[in-house]
Amino acid sequence: MTDDDDEVWSAVAAEWAELWGDFADSARRAVIAAAGVSTGSRVLDVGCGSGELLAMVDALGAVGSGTDPSRRMLAIARARAPRADLRHGCAESLPWPAHAFDVVTAFNSLQFAEDTDEALAELARVVVPGGLVAVSNWAERELNDLDTIETALADAAGDEPRPDGDLRVAGGLERLFADGGLELERSALVTVPWEAPDDDTLVRGVLLGEDRDGMERARATVLAAAAPFRTGDGGYHLSNAFRYAVARTAG
Ligand SMILES: C[S@@+](CC[C@H](N)C(=O)[O-])C[C@H]1O[C@@H](n2cnc3c(N)ncnc32)[C@H](O)[C@@H]1O
Repeated sequence: MTDDDDEVWSAVAAEWAELWGDFADSARRAVIAAAGVSTGSRVLDVGCGSGELLAMVDALGAVGSGTDPSRRMLAIARARAPRADLRHGCAESLPWPAHAFDVVTAFNSLQFAEDTDEALAELARVVVPGGLVAVSNWAERELNDLDTIETALADAAGDEPRPDGDLRVAGGLERLFADGGLELERSALVTVPWEAPDDDTLVRGVLLGEDRDGMERARATVLAAAAPFRTGDGGYHLSNAFRYAVARTAG
């Protein structure tokens, strides 16, 4: 973990929480159900961001812990899930001893690890033998309305759209677990809609992290590409998808 990992996500933490924090709630609910999280379950969320999953497991009576390289994300998570044990850290080196949790999750975060196989081994280290590890990520670009806008932005900049990473494509999470020696329990695709009430919110969300000039330059491209997703009330509804997989460590 470097200072950069903290800076990059701390710079956008407040806007992330505001604009994107809860958009993957349907995937979170599906993983919580698939992993059987209930009263007393010890759950660690790796790359916990602004703490939405931790608030959900807390409401179920589970004991939540979270880690993130971004100190600002952790501060927001602390406010959202005050009972959670939150520690500065990253997937590659988790600040907990072995076998401390019943369930370990990573939502939209494992792809930022230097080496996802090594990070998975670290997630598995802190789970009890026979415990569960769940990973969830954006599905492949063609399943996401957001891709239409990102492709338009790449075209306008003369770039190729970013290729799908290994964790996004069909079978990617299953392969990750098989390579790591974990036994797959369940995997599925979940719809994760993202909504913006107006043009400004759409532009701020899609261009998260851009400075004011960058946003002004790209605004027209974003609005034109998003036209098919416009709702009757002047907002936008983008249909997107996450994949998740839940697997068991050796007992
Ligand atoms: C896209 S956000 C997702 C946040 C949260 N998991 C969610 O689903 O809303 C990515 C998060 O991963 C964190 N992150 C970046 N590099 C990481 C790493 N190597 N290990 C763990 N988390 C990391 C970021 O700080 C950020 O909070």
